[in-house]
Amino acid sequence: MKDENVIWHQHVITKEERATQKSQKPCVLWFTGLSGSGKSTIAGALENALVKLGKHTQLLDGDNVRHGLCKDLSFSDEDRKENIRRIGETTKLMSEAGLIVLSAFISPFIEERDSVREMLDEGEFLEIHVSTSLDVCESRDPKGLYKKARSGEIANFTGISSEYQAPLNAEITLQTDQQTIDKSVEQVINYLQENGYLS
Ligand code: ADX
Repeated sequence: MKDENVIWHQHVITKEERATQKSQKPCVLWFTGLSGSGKSTIAGALENALVKLGKHTQLLDGDNVRHGLCKDLSFSDEDRKENIRRIGETTKLMSEAGLIVLSAFISPFIEERDSVREMLDEGEFLEIHVSTSLDVCESRDPKGLYKKARSGEIANFTGISSEYQAPLNAEITLQTDQQTIDKSVEQVINYLQENGYLS
């Protein structure tokens, strides 16, 4: 709860100045999808491509953030909501620094993703649905978590025992069952170029 005596301080250097210095338009590339869908892999490859283009980025990844900022949170619905709220606030701070932020979290609930969109300026939140099907994610099972979820060893596992709400109006949908990682990276770069985010 915010104390009424805490008053916003308007600092001299603005977000626009920080962004202009970096020759880019800040935005948050919000990857959402099932565990094992390829969010982190694609976000990592995309960040690499952006850095090669001379862009200034930061990548936030679910598994990594849960080792620090969110290490006190479980996978209950309430804790997942708090996870996304904290990540949303973090992406806001980073976009104010003028960065292109890439975030890779399951972020299973439409309402929480929309609330991050609301936190940010118009046009700043780009929702990217990594639409790999449950069957494909489960057959990949890179960390053996689906097997554990099926046997009941892990509770509240997304897609098995916890809901995943796919985006209804994502800016970009990556048909990862049908295209390579390089093709997905190219699709996002093209979107960013066509919409003036990289100039
Ligand atoms: S979110 O739902 O709160 O957005 P987040 O992206 O931070 O999830 O973390 C997901 C990662 O945690 C998965 O990629 C997986 O490796 C791991 N994980 C461990 N337990 C679970 C679970 N019950 N459901 C989903 N992912 C889990």
